[in-house]
Amino acid sequence: MTKDIFGKVDLNNGQALDNRLVMAPMTTQCAFHDGSVTDELINYYGRRAGGPAAIIVESTFIDNYGRAFEGALGADSDDKIHGLTKLASAIKDKGSKALIQLYHAGRMGVPELNMGRQPVSASNIKALRDNAVEPRTLETDEIEDIIRDFKDSSIRVMKAGFDGVELHGANTYLLQQFFSPHSNRREDEWGGDRLKRTLFAKSVIQAVKEAAVEFGKPDFIIGYRFSPEELEEPGINFDDTMFLLNELAEYPIDYFHFSTNSWSRTSIIDTTDEELLIDKYLRDASDELRKIPIMGAGGIFSKEDVRLALAAGYDLLSIAKAHLVNPDFVNILKNNRLPETVLREGDNERLSIPHPLWNILGFLKSK
Ligand SMILES: Cc1cc2nc3c(=O)[nH]c(=O)nc-3n(C[C@H](O)[C@H](O)[C@H](O)COP(=O)(O)O)c2cc1C
Repeated sequence: MTKDIFGKVDLNNGQALDNRLVMAPMTTQCAFHDGSVTDELINYYGRRAGGPAAIIVESTFIDNYGRAFEGALGADSDDKIHGLTKLASAIKDKGSKALIQLYHAGRMGVPELNMGRQPVSASNIKALRDNAVEPRTLETDEIEDIIRDFKDSSIRVMKAGFDGVELHGANTYLLQQFFSPHSNRREDEWGGDRLKRTLFAKSVIQAVKEAAVEFGKPDFIIGYRFSPEELEEPGINFDDTMFLLNELAEYPIDYFHFSTNSWSRTSIIDTTDEELLIDKYLRDASDELRKIPIMGAGGIFSKEDVRLALAAGYDLLSIAKAHLVNPDFVNILKNNRLPETVLREGDNERLSIPHPLWNILGFLKSK
């Protein structure tokens, strides 16, 4: 059956998304130094709201010492609620749902951005990247503190009026680090075989759900983003990912979100394997997992791309770069107009693109 791009998608918690297209999280690096909301952020997101069923606001730190970027947005303290409320309103007033991506950088944390603190992780194994700093192994009570930080940050964004959170279990941040056999070498209940390595993600999901129930918002949306594979050895392969997702499907998750640069991605570990990851996903998903909408990501720039990706099996699609170039991307597709593909001189002003983001978008600019 052909999926209607602009038809509603029901979530298990009783909420519905108005259509199948969502603005993907993109770090803009333009929050205030302490992580609070700037007018630039409000203008940028407000400008892009209305067409997509939901906007997923960029990765937002839940702990003052868990930042991965300069200019990162934070939900780590109550004084941020005021700005976050303005941000949620700018999105919701135009008719899109407001979601926000919560993360802790773990070993990807940079000391200079975290008051000189050594990064922390499941174990003291450095990330495989230039200039990586050896992280300190988290104590058990610190793991519990971080789970509580996810819960407290969820309450703050609920107070601010957000409709839900996306837990950032991708892009090598702390949630992924606990599942990865590369970064998690623990021998206590938080590590070990791959079932034990799912405990941190499960505990975070449960804590956010508890927050929603305690706050009186049981239909608060909880999404989960994952990176399908890691190149590290040992690392997460797609079979491990399906194990994780089938486990997490028993928890209150409203959608899962691939973190890929192409919706038609194949394995990056076995480059001779031509089977699409979405085909493997649909084949290996448990009955519970099949009940949860799956969001694809990467390389959607036209209505034809949307049609092909939905036909491949995704229920929802997230769109990042096309939303930078076309703040009104979803309405352009709805009206059968052709979206722009490149940025031109002066577009930062015209399209309300924050300055720090504009400076790293060279690859999208016309020559
Ligand atoms: C400037 C920029 C910032 C990004 N920041 C985030 C982020 O904060 N969280 C995240 O999960 N993905 C992030 N991504 C990845 C996007 O969400 C998306 O998956 C990727 O760009 C592929 O989609 P696209 O082809 O539609 O751009 C970022 C991408 C870009 C270009």
